[in-house]
Amino acid sequence: MIWVFLLMAQSAAAQNAVPTQIERGEALFYESPGGCGTCHALKGKGTAIGPDLKGVSRLSPAGIAMAIRSTVTQYVQSMKVKSAGTFPAMPPGPDGSTVKVYDLSKMPPELHEVDRGEISMSPNNAWRHPPSVRKYTDEQIADLIAYVRYAGSGSKTPVDPADVAK
Ligand code: HEC
Repeated sequence: MIWVFLLMAQSAAAQNAVPTQIERGEALFYESPGGCGTCHALKGKGTAIGPDLKGVSRLSPAGIAMAIRSTVTQYVQSMKVKSAGTFPAMPPGPDGSTVKVYDLSKMPPELHEVDRGEISMSPNNAWRHPPSVRKYTDEQIADLIAYVRYAGSGSKTPVDPADVAK
């Protein structure tokens, strides 16, 4: 009898378990609408419109926080498409004559499938992460970074909000 009781108590504890920092970050990452997963894919989840975050997942938490809050564009171009106008977009990959480009001025970004030949690109210094990304507290940014580091490079080291404070 006591065993049954212990088992019940155990499963109740598991159900009420406080989510870990990585789990909290994962929930925030894929929240809808406007979460990071709208534009970034990790572990096969989300939409790969922006850069692959695996590349930054090995940086220090402060470095990743800086990249999230960055006001400098590294990849986004001003893209002029004959059939669709001019908008900020990531440059298309190297393959195919028809390419997918996303208008990053729309939220969620708007997909255009266009002929590579009708694209011309020039530098863009104005694009920023949308306001939905800038609303997070330091605690939430720390949670998000813990998830990015875990999903991108397997790190389980906790992220201290003090290390990512603005
Ligand atoms: C509307 C689409 C969109 C959303 C939503 C979005 N991002 Fe981004 N993100 C981008 C784009 C596009 C870039 C590339 C900007 C540039 O040109 O430097 C980027 C860049 C980054 C970078 C720098 C990557 C590198 O390789 O330098 C990080 C880190 C990042 N985003 C994290 C996040 C996180 C975390 C969230 C959610 C809190 C988020 N992003 C939400 C589109 C988005």
